[in-house]
Amino acid sequence: MKKLEIGLATLYLGSCEDVIPHLSANEIQAVITDPPYGMKYDGGITDKFTQIKGDDAKDQELTNIYLNAFKLGKDKPLYIFGTWRTYAEVYNSFLQAKRALNAVIVWDKKGIGLGMQHHRPQHEFIFYSKANTWFGGKAESDIWVCPRETMGQYEHPTQKPIKLMERCVHNITEEGDTIFDPFMGSGTTGVAAVRKGRRFIGVEIDEKYFEVACERIRLAQEQLRLF
Ligand SMILES: C[S@@+](CC[C@H](N)C(=O)[O-])C[C@H]1O[C@@H](n2cnc3c(N)ncnc32)[C@H](O)[C@@H]1O
Repeated sequence: MKKLEIGLATLYLGSCEDVIPHLSANEIQAVITDPPYGMKYDGGITDKFTQIKGDDAKDQELTNIYLNAFKLGKDKPLYIFGTWRTYAEVYNSFLQAKRALNAVIVWDKKGIGLGMQHHRPQHEFIFYSKANTWFGGKAESDIWVCPRETMGQYEHPTQKPIKLMERCVHNITEEGDTIFDPFMGSGTTGVAAVRKGRRFIGVEIDEKYFEVACERIRLAQEQLRLF
């Protein structure tokens, strides 16, 4: 396990299962995370990416991975990403963690993904569990339209748009709060967090993506200082 402090962010290289016991629930105000999808996804046609770690897990094994998202967030608001393929495992993780599922947001990516299916995917899910704090609008829709950037700009096969993560950050935290992402990948939650003046704790198991996250979060904070 390696720990690095970069301004508002504390980043860990290692498995979240090993890192979480070293953290305290009092340190964080919200969990926003995008765990592995159990799809053996490696970014499709490009050979730029390696297969995501933990992405070969299935059924209860995958649910157990998702349960890590709840360990520090028992009474905190949560956004957890998923797809229709992993709906059952994410739903089971809510049941097993005894957390209410208050909304399933459909993220409309405004364009179809790659693949040979009859119905190529244009959406993902964002599972939401509420707590006592809410900073979003009075009547938010559960359909969020946010185009993906082009794959060429991505450094991780399932990298999320910064604008999408900023919307999550805005809705459930205020300036100075700390957001926890146990599966940070290339660190998009962290980039969104620091751009919005939040503190961030992130964990990534794959050294390659950990380094990418460090660099993106460092850059995001440098850019804030310049403007
Ligand atoms: C779906 S990706 C997250 C992508 C991220 N939202 C982004 O924008 O780049 C999930 C990440 O979780 C990491 N991961 C898998 N198992 C893990 C574990 N036990 N602890 C920490 N990270 C893990 C994978 O290496 C992968 O990068």
